[in-house]
Amino acid sequence: MQRLDGYSSPLRVLAVTSGKGGVGKTSFSVNLAIQLEKMGKRVLILDADFGLSNVEVMLGIRPQYNISDLIYKQKNISDIITEGPMNIGFISGGSGVQDLGNLDSKQIKLLISKLSQLDSMYDNIIIDTGAGISDSVLEFVLTCPEIMLVVTPEPTSITDAYSLLKAVNRKKEFIATQKTINVVSNKVESESEGMEIYKKLNAVASKFLNIQLEYIGYIYHDRNIAKAVIEQNPITITEPKGETARLIFGIADRIVNDKKYEEQQGQGIAGVFLNYIKTRRRNK
Ligand SMILES: Nc1ncnc2c1ncn2[C@@H]1O[C@H](COP(=O)(O)OP(=O)(O)OP(=O)(O)O)[C@@H](O)[C@H]1O
Ligand SMILES: [Mg+2]
Repeated sequence: MQRLDGYSSPLRVLAVTSGKGGVGKTSFSVNLAIQLEKMGKRVLILDADFGLSNVEVMLGIRPQYNISDLIYKQKNISDIITEGPMNIGFISGGSGVQDLGNLDSKQIKLLISKLSQLDSMYDNIIIDTGAGISDSVLEFVLTCPEIMLVVTPEPTSITDAYSLLKAVNRKKEFIATQKTINVVSNKVESESEGMEIYKKLNAVASKFLNIQLEYIGYIYHDRNIAKAVIEQNPITITEPKGETARLIFGIADRIVNDKKYEEQQGQGIAGVFLNYIKTRRRNK
């Protein structure tokens, strides 16, 4: 992995991903951001899902610009950030993220210098990636040091998560020991079901891919999550004392207190994007 010479940032970049679509990545990203805010962290969500931008729907916001406007429309970083509930920042990746591999070196410099301003503005950036083994998802998984892999009890969700890990593992840029892959068991009926999902996935990942996964927690199947989405009001705001909010707070707490991360020298969002662009170019 390319390092930015002498550059380090306390900003933590977390990529939320999954093998299968519709498992709850966006709901988790939004609610995790809110719980981290409650812990005093400044959080930005970057929507890197190029389909329907559903973070926007969930937060009921409509950003005017996206990442590529930093380059093509000479926008500043503050122009492309939309503020959501609880001061959560939001940046739409737009379809421009996919084209970043085509930038020339002057454009890359401009993009990186603008993006690196985020390092001092936020404590955490959550990248909501798409699902599956498309190139852009794989590249975010490859370039982010911390991954939140959302899995549900559905057998296809577990096998698709394994397929994603297998695809990532094939890339030469992937170094398992330099990455933390946290499993989030979503839509479970019991605590033990959450642990079971992790155990199943970790058993095959460690045996066949030599990748050791971490378990960061579980979230119950909760119909009010969907209801909160329709009302554009995340459950951690509408039911802050409920069980679901408590479980997501627990995950936020484990993320914040992860000692392993503190030992690493973060490269900030600029580091992630620089590597993303390089990986994209190489795999074109
Ligand atoms: N813990 C949960 N309990 C019940 N429903 C949930 C839970 N988490 C998410 N959902 C619901 O599942 C559906 C899919 O969630 P979401 O859009 O967050 O998934 P996604 O992984 O981001 O999907 P996509 O791959 O399309 O981006 C939504 O209707 C959401 O309300
Ligand atoms: Mg989504």
